[in-house]
Amino acid sequence: MATKRYTNEEFDMLRRWLDNNQDSASEKVIEELVDVISKDFAAEKIIAVNSCMGALHIALQTVGIGPGDEVIVDPIVTFAGMAVMYHNGVPVFADVDLNTMNADPESIESKITSRTKAIICTHLFGSMCDMDKIMEIAKANNIPVIEDCAHALFAQQNGKYAGLHGDFAAFSFNHRKQLSTGQGGFLAINNKDFGQRSNFTKFGRIPERINWNYQMPGIIAAIAIAQWKHAKEYVRKDHELAKLYAEAIKGCEWLIEQQVLPKNWSSYHIWACTFKGEEFGIDYKKFMEVLKENGATYFLPAFMPYGAFGLEPSPVYRYPIFQVPMAYTKGCPTACPHYEGKVDYSGGSCPNAEYLVPRMFNTVLSPIEDEKIEIYAEGLSKTIKHFS
Ligand SMILES: Cc1ncc(COP(=O)(O)O)c(C=O)c1O
Repeated sequence: MATKRYTNEEFDMLRRWLDNNQDSASEKVIEELVDVISKDFAAEKIIAVNSCMGALHIALQTVGIGPGDEVIVDPIVTFAGMAVMYHNGVPVFADVDLNTMNADPESIESKITSRTKAIICTHLFGSMCDMDKIMEIAKANNIPVIEDCAHALFAQQNGKYAGLHGDFAAFSFNHRKQLSTGQGGFLAINNKDFGQRSNFTKFGRIPERINWNYQMPGIIAAIAIAQWKHAKEYVRKDHELAKLYAEAIKGCEWLIEQQVLPKNWSSYHIWACTFKGEEFGIDYKKFMEVLKENGATYFLPAFMPYGAFGLEPSPVYRYPIFQVPMAYTKGCPTACPHYEGKVDYSGGSCPNAEYLVPRMFNTVLSPIEDEKIEIYAEGLSKTIKHFS
């Protein structure tokens, strides 16, 4: 199988779109995609967008985040925190659970203040956060929840898809995802009031309020319609392929797989472990070297938040993007006259994430040929034997 999963249907759809009057065809094809998505996601409203970042931003804008407001986010990836700063809000990082690697509901609860206006929870690598607990906390405090489902298309909890648990859900169709159109995504809104309030510009229309152009291009929608037909099958395949890695580490005491809650069905966009070799006298660098010698070349040591290459692996709040208040120059969003709180982006504010990030060991499943995954799993198994 090719590294990307495309059929002639994508090319037929592209041809159809290119051969049409693109001006009138664009809206039609986007509406067609929204209908297709709505069949699986019975949300209040679906908006097709050009990126998951755009979807997160529209959600935050709809909630009404502004200067001085705090939004609770997770510290492993940058996206949620960055989206909060798009709207001049202040990201407040909740710690993660060491086993599931996802935001810990108790930590989320402990970070709530009178300034908290939303919670964004990322379903890391395709396994969902504990939404029962998070929604209970959010409802008790009257705070809307935005699910970041970039990794979690068709992932489930209690038999219900990721994206149908919170008030909003942002999905990505970028080049790394199981359903890929190069760029793209959608926003699901599950709350009637937010559905009505959401403000989104279509080409040529004058919006009521300031707005950003996050519209999905028609050409992308055309590819997405063809991709959607097969996406469940692609995700199911990755779910099966992940078992090869689970099998490879079976019995190994120093590679601990990301715990998938029993009520979850993971989409396995990424397969991940915690490396605890140092407790057994195994050096992480040496382990990675032997892994490469054994042909398992697609694993990443530690979790390097995207774009942070060259920096030491750490929770994202240690990176300049959060450390230096420069979202809109003039000290925003943290050193801002509207902000009455004080953020703690120092080391130690999320101890579990500080422990976890440098020890993460992971690999992306979706853009790799199946045969290679077999080779990598074999290489992983051989490497474990080498050190045991
Ligand atoms: C968890 C998460 N959220 C958001 C995004 C942003 O997605 P996009 O590239 O569609 O804006 C990504 C990108 O990979 C992601 O992994």
